[in-house]
Amino acid sequence: MLPLRVVIGLATAFAQVTAALVDADASAALASSVTASAAVGTPSASANFIRDAASHVNLFIGTTNGGHTFPGATIPHGMVKVGMDTDSPGNHAGYDANPIFNATGFSQLHDDGTGGAVPLSLFKLWAFTSCGVGNTFEECQTSISGRKALRKVLPDGSPDDAAEPGYFSTNLSTGIRVELTSTRRAAIHRYTFPAGTKTPRMVVDITNDGQMSSTDPEMDLDPDTARVTGGAHFEASFGPGRYRAFTCVDFKGDGYELGAPTEFGAWLADFPVKQTVTVTQLYTSFTDQIGALFTFAPNGNSTTSILARVGVSFISSEQACANAEDEIPDFDFERVRSASRTQWNELLGRVQVDTTNVDPEIVDLFYSSFYRTHLSPADYTGENPLWNSTEPYYDSFYCNWDTYRTLYSFMALHDPATFARIVRGMINIQQHEGWLPECRGATAKHYIQGGSNGDPILAEFFVKFHEHAKELSVSADALYKALLADAELQPPNWDLQGRQVNIWKTLGYIPSDVWERSGTNSKQVSRTLEYAFDDFSISQVAKVLGKSADGKKYAQRSENFANVWNPNVTFPGETDIAGFMQPRFANGVFNFTDPRHCSIHDPIQATCFLNAQNHDGFYEGAPIVYSQYAPHDTAKLIALQGGKEKFVSRLNFIFNQGYFDSTDEPSQQIPFMYHYANRPGLSTQRSRQVIAEFYNTSINGLPGNDDSGAMGSYVAFYLAGLYPLPATRQFLLSSPYFREISFQNPVLNTTTTIRANGFHGNPKNGTGGHVFVQSVKIDGKPWKSNCFIDWDAFTSGSLIELQLTDNINVGCGAGLDALPPSLSTGGYD
Ligand SMILES: *[C@@H]1O[C@H](CO)[C@@H](O)[C@H](O)[C@H]1NC(C)=O
Ligand SMILES: *[C@@H]1O[C@H](CO)[C@@H](O)[C@H](O)[C@H]1NC(C)=O
Ligand SMILES: *[C@@H]1O[C@H](CO)[C@@H](O)[C@H](O)[C@H]1NC(C)=O
Ligand SMILES: *[C@@H]1O[C@H](CO)[C@@H](O)[C@H](O)[C@H]1NC(C)=O
Ligand SMILES: *[C@@H]1O[C@H](CO)[C@@H](O)[C@H](O)[C@H]1NC(C)=O
Ligand SMILES: *[C@@H]1O[C@H](CO)[C@@H](O)[C@H](O)[C@H]1NC(C)=O
Ligand SMILES: *[C@@H]1O[C@H](CO)[C@@H](O)[C@H](O)[C@H]1NC(C)=O
Ligand SMILES: *[C@@H]1O[C@H](CO)[C@@H](O)[C@H](O)[C@H]1NC(C)=O
Ligand SMILES: *[C@@H]1O[C@H](CO)[C@@H](O)[C@H](O)[C@H]1NC(C)=O
Repeated sequence: MLPLRVVIGLATAFAQVTAALVDADASAALASSVTASAAVGTPSASANFIRDAASHVNLFIGTTNGGHTFPGATIPHGMVKVGMDTDSPGNHAGYDANPIFNATGFSQLHDDGTGGAVPLSLFKLWAFTSCGVGNTFEECQTSISGRKALRKVLPDGSPDDAAEPGYFSTNLSTGIRVELTSTRRAAIHRYTFPAGTKTPRMVVDITNDGQMSSTDPEMDLDPDTARVTGGAHFEASFGPGRYRAFTCVDFKGDGYELGAPTEFGAWLADFPVKQTVTVTQLYTSFTDQIGALFTFAPNGNSTTSILARVGVSFISSEQACANAEDEIPDFDFERVRSASRTQWNELLGRVQVDTTNVDPEIVDLFYSSFYRTHLSPADYTGENPLWNSTEPYYDSFYCNWDTYRTLYSFMALHDPATFARIVRGMINIQQHEGWLPECRGATAKHYIQGGSNGDPILAEFFVKFHEHAKELSVSADALYKALLADAELQPPNWDLQGRQVNIWKTLGYIPSDVWERSGTNSKQVSRTLEYAFDDFSISQVAKVLGKSADGKKYAQRSENFANVWNPNVTFPGETDIAGFMQPRFANGVFNFTDPRHCSIHDPIQATCFLNAQNHDGFYEGAPIVYSQYAPHDTAKLIALQGGKEKFVSRLNFIFNQGYFDSTDEPSQQIPFMYHYANRPGLSTQRSRQVIAEFYNTSINGLPGNDDSGAMGSYVAFYLAGLYPLPATRQFLLSSPYFREISFQNPVLNTTTTIRANGFHGNPKNGTGGHVFVQSVKIDGKPWKSNCFIDWDAFTSGSLIELQLTDNINVGCGAGLDALPPSLSTGGYD
């Protein structure tokens, strides 16, 4: 999702990329890897494998220019994501890497890569070395604009910030160093004051979330222990709701006795009031900026370093305190930091790459993208204020529309246990709210963007792990019921959950001109296409469950995408490109939306973002892009578009004329679609050109929002030489950017390795190279296709050997079953 569009990337940019085939210099990569004599599973004995994967994670990718990535500290799927907030526009994840922006605080909760309004970013801490001319308590400028300060800037012009999985640090221009690390529901901060600081002071800010939306603040402080408890109501970021959150902050000297604060008080905006201990003592109607301020005695003549332990809860401040006490009883910053890094390394180490002949930037791009697939959704188990349950509770699904395409399929390869917990949490939400979550943040339902895209997520889990469902505590029955609710029951408001399903069932598409009271009449064409894929995913679950009538029914409904195909619309000025997905009235007559609508060449420069007034039918994608969207039946799309040759020229047109939109998910599968026209070499080249042009390890290395890891998982797949089709057993196959990549799956207890024989590096600009798949062997036996592999290879822990060639004209293989499956040609049976 990308409400704030960053327009970049004309096709001509492909031509600007400089040429240089293969980096001969792999020495840097070798330095950070080790030569293994016996790696896990089947990787080859000589593979240079990654031992400390966390050291390959660059957290600053996409932290400026609209990537909205979160560079702070968290554990995998942690609820607490503690990080720096800056006064930058677009500070959706708090931070901006551009040093012209001031730091405004260090807050406990963030999301990764979202659009909408700024989410979370609440309960900020801040430190002062001195205040005002007289350095009195009352002179401290405690409000956001009063206290903010720039960071120190390094000689290369970057801010003096550092980050690694589980740890963030910065040096502020005030001379204060701030370090952050966290557990699931608590954070620990360390504020190191410059030598000679006589009055180290700490600010706790209860009310300033990213939107400054607080109401009903509560705050109490203990003058003896300096404990602060409190909370407030805040606005959700992409939906109509509000939520409550609570915190509990304790201070401790790092290696010395901090003692009771020498001064204390609550503050309103820039006015601290000494000796006050609760918000009710203040005249709160004057401002909504409220918090606590303490002065502590310095640590003798030694460095003063103050630890702040911050618990967070969505239930109560008592629970916030309990979370902090349980998870960080010892205030041991280094222990927490190292435990977090260990968790990350265990997780990231499950995917191993051979770094030989690979540009170190590609290794970092891979692990950094992979890392970001484990930020969202966040594990809020125990923190659901809406109902009590013993099931896991996950939140920050922001949104399933973004992540269903690639994120969960990547997770399936190496982390089915977390996948199962997320699925259980989603089913539990359906059981209490009636429908699966679609978009959700901070316990509030957010606006849907297309279909009920929890369906393909649950289906992805079930199709791949149904044999392990019991052991992973996923009830097949409850899962299927949850899917049927989305498919059959119209919700009170389909802007927030479920689908406009009544009319879908009667007409087989979402018409442009039917106004029902319970949801917004917009994005009808893209909703039709999403509903079709959702139903396809349900058909695959029905089949696994042996419900063949349901399987047929939903497979049939999944072909409804063709109901919005108007063969008579041609592309302006290109009569040869005929047939587009188009809006349609209830009486069957088509309306017309220019195929260029919402593209960079749209004559009226529309955006297709979420907007109730938007009746043209499309969401975050041009008609020419959505006309490629029926991932379960590309064969049918090829037929509708006039056959393979025309299909290939249309794909080329999309790229060459700049209609491919790397910033939004509906374009994501387009580079791989050549596979279905028996031209896998073109997919390999396009996908590599997309990486070369749009994704890199610089702070602006993302073309748009990371979208809760959707972009990260997309890049990880492309670098692995795979592209998933959720809810099926197929992965489209290309060549990895590594001579070898292996996936260790702890639930299946297998390691699957893809080995690229003849690999000698990656073309820098993605063009050409010895990277095309000529033939495939699985466990030594020739495999039927160069274009896809089956999930079986992962369940059995196979060695998949690719033979590479520089011939881009390779096909999928000679046999009838060499093309990747499509529904209308009998696939998936
Ligand atoms: C990409 O690099 C190759 C190999 O150096 C070169 O032949 C080709 O012209 C380059 N292509 C583009 C579009 O820059
Ligand atoms: C940073 O803060 C200073 C002091 O308040 C202010 O003058 C400056 O404009 C701020 N920078 C930005 C980018 O807002
Ligand atoms: C900040 O300063 C400290 C001490 O001077 C130094 O060790 C550290 O590398 C600096 N940078 C960051 C990001 O912490
Ligand atoms: C701090 O240093 C001063 C000057 O060197 C000395 O007089 C004083 O005793 C020291 N204080 C402590 C607590 O060590
Ligand atoms: C959950 O259980 C606790 C303890 O019994 C109770 O105080 C709370 O109100 C319950 N919450 C909900 C939302 O039912
Ligand atoms: C397309 O044009 C043909 C020929 O004019 C016409 O018969 C057909 O009904 C049109 N189809 C649609 C969907 O408008
Ligand atoms: C028909 O399409 C036009 C152009 O997108 C749009 O302005 C109009 O609102 C549509 N009509 C209806 C009834 O949806
Ligand atoms: C990195 O990626 C961004 C976003 O796509 C792009 O704007 C930028 O030019 C790229 N930088 C390099 C050095 O390729
Ligand atoms: C996992 O596989 C290894 C090697 O095949 C085997 O030794 C081990 O017992 C298996 N563990 C489980 C839990 O099945």
